[in-house]
Amino acid sequence: MKREDIERIAALIGDLKCKTQKEVEEARVRLLGKKGEITALFDEFRTVDKAQKAEFGKALNELKQKAASKIEELKGAIVDTGGSDAPKMDLSMPGDPLELGSRHPVSIVRQEIVDIFHKFGYDVAEGPEIEDDYHVFEALNFPPNHPARDMQDTFFVSAGHLNPILLRTHTSSVQVRTMEKMDVPIRVICPGRVFRNEAISARAHCIFHQVEGLYIDENVTFADLKQAILLFAREIFGPDTQIRMRPSYFPFTEPSAEVDVSCNICHGKGCNICKGTGWLEILGCGMVDPNVLEASGIDSKRYSGFAFGMGLERIAMLKWRVNDLRHYFENDMRFLREFSTAPEV
Ligand code: DAH
Repeated sequence: MKREDIERIAALIGDLKCKTQKEVEEARVRLLGKKGEITALFDEFRTVDKAQKAEFGKALNELKQKAASKIEELKGAIVDTGGSDAPKMDLSMPGDPLELGSRHPVSIVRQEIVDIFHKFGYDVAEGPEIEDDYHVFEALNFPPNHPARDMQDTFFVSAGHLNPILLRTHTSSVQVRTMEKMDVPIRVICPGRVFRNEAISARAHCIFHQVEGLYIDENVTFADLKQAILLFAREIFGPDTQIRMRPSYFPFTEPSAEVDVSCNICHGKGCNICKGTGWLEILGCGMVDPNVLEASGIDSKRYSGFAFGMGLERIAMLKWRVNDLRHYFENDMRFLREFSTAPEV
């Protein structure tokens, strides 16, 4: 027996590297198996001189010990699935972080508007996107030949009968459904998706979102409407916001108005967003027409109310100065990521 053999094997054990459990087992067999190198040295040990037995015996036992603990160490370091080349896995490592998405800007303003009106005592009401002519037009006092019923504007699901089925062109239909279902007093806000047969451009889309508001009780006046809109405008655009009302026409309200807010970008001086006027249009509103109340079984002599409707994309555009409506529908991550913490203007 030679000392160099023991040293050579000791060095080999020191350098031993394995990638898989299979390789560890092969190394164990090569060193400690029946025909292994260390086992062979033990066989040879029988022929060693008595004088050297103690020295070689100690060295051999140490070698065997070193090999056994190295094999154990390698075994413990490798987690694999039965001898494959699967990469080493450390189960104590923390997991990969989950990438959180952000809310869509339209959802952010929708929630903001709902929260504001909640504070004023309004509940949320919803209605179907696929509606009938009665709830979208007729009960809202649209004359039979009103152009809004025209194919140009409305997507019909099934036309040609008395009460055609269509995609709602505004959320005012939810007013009607609410008046049919609920008892007065009514205070609701109705957010939802609406559809119009429009060519898609920076300023128009065939799908967009509206929020409708409706308040019916005894003695509700235009002054109440004006106050509600003013409070709302100041909550959403800031405390210095001014409003102005321009006379307008909607079949379902009388009188009707369109509401502008003072431009929150140039503060009335005139810029390209407000087209130099200092004002931005945000919604339509008015006192609910008595015909509309009566159509849904509400006594128009006893009760009065106001209604208003606004486009969510438009409010979001004004709030965050988005210059193209199409951004809302393209799901471009670069656009959506800008709202991961909604910036205030
Ligand atoms: N429905 C109208 C539209 O889509 C918006 C609107 C205007 C709703 C006046 C109202 C209102 O409730 O009173 O253009």
